Amino acid sequence: MSQAALSGKNYVVTGANSGIGLFAARRFAELGANVALVCRNEKRGCEAVAEIIATTGNENISLYLADFSSLSSVSEMADSLLRDIPKIDVLCNNAGGVNGSRTVSDEGFETTFVSNHLSSFLLTKKLLPAILHAADEDLARIVFTSSYGHFNSALDFEDLGLAEGYSTLKAYGRSKLMNLLTARELQHRLAGKNVVASSFHPGTVRTPIWNKGGALARLLGLVLYSFMKSVGQGSDTFIWLASSEDIASRGADGHYFYERKRAETAKFSTDADAKRLWQVSEELIAPYL
Ligand SMILES: NC(=O)c1ccc[n+]([C@@H]2O[C@H](COP(=O)([O-])OP(=O)(O)OC[C@H]3O[C@@H](n4cnc5c(N)ncnc54)[C@H](OP(=O)(O)O)[C@@H]3O)[C@@H](O)[C@H]2O)c1
Repeated sequence: MSQAALSGKNYVVTGANSGIGLFAARRFAELGANVALVCRNEKRGCEAVAEIIATTGNENISLYLADFSSLSSVSEMADSLLRDIPKIDVLCNNAGGVNGSRTVSDEGFETTFVSNHLSSFLLTKKLLPAILHAADEDLARIVFTSSYGHFNSALDFEDLGLAEGYSTLKAYGRSKLMNLLTARELQHRLAGKNVVASSFHPGTVRTPIWNKGGALARLLGLVLYSFMKSVGQGSDTFIWLASSEDIASRGADGHYFYERKRAETAKFSTDADAKRLWQVSEELIAPYL
């Protein structure tokens, strides 16, 4: 791609101060985009902004703060984004984490469920007018960072917050299943609107995530360390889905990708569950819109 390929485009990247989010944000900046980094921690966010400006020379990098375990916080941040950026070409729903034990937020949601799914669902719903505005001129895109971990188990709609039988991997896997189901249902709902939604698995990537989710994540990280992809390799499909002119990325059509190819999803990732998850999520976020 030419160095100015994304000039004039507005990108929003969540979880942009670390790992594949930071790598992708830096690449979008390098290609000339205006990039809004969404981060939870002001210091880490400011450091990421400064690093991207220093390494790319692109000064159109801004910072927005939200803790994704709080829908109120995400809603407020989305309002600021909408005020500042009325046209959003690409939204990258990438923020996500692993939680070693079950906790419940002040708003009453299990932490992994709200941080990895409900918050990006709310953010997408709130930013949709700005994304549709961009789509009047050129293809707009919404990319969700999912995971192979979604194969863990099917959703239980009677217990989305895993009050029974919580495990770190089950909570994480189901949240990543929600990401790919959301991309699929979103595409269905946006048919004919010049917006493409997609999701992807980055691979097992050497990022700080392995040190943030308690003992099990740390142990897994140690065991898998030498087999892991670099952050650059793990970001490749992400950047491709979010920016390539390649016909396959422009036509991603709600699907789930790995290494730039459409990949199989779990048998239980049904269209019926995608639709039901959408309806339930809409009800849960309604007070925060
Ligand atoms: N690494 C892998 O092997 C792998 C594999 C499959 C999928 N993924 C997915 O890839 C995405 C990026 O992860 P990564 O591997 O790049 O890890 P990372 O370096 O830890 O990046 C995760 C980003 O999400 C942010 N985040 C996490 N919880 C948040 C919250 N409650 N509110 C706001 N921001 C929050 C983090 O902020 P802080 O820096 O403040 O924590 C960080 O910026 C995640 O969605 C993850 O599930 C990763």
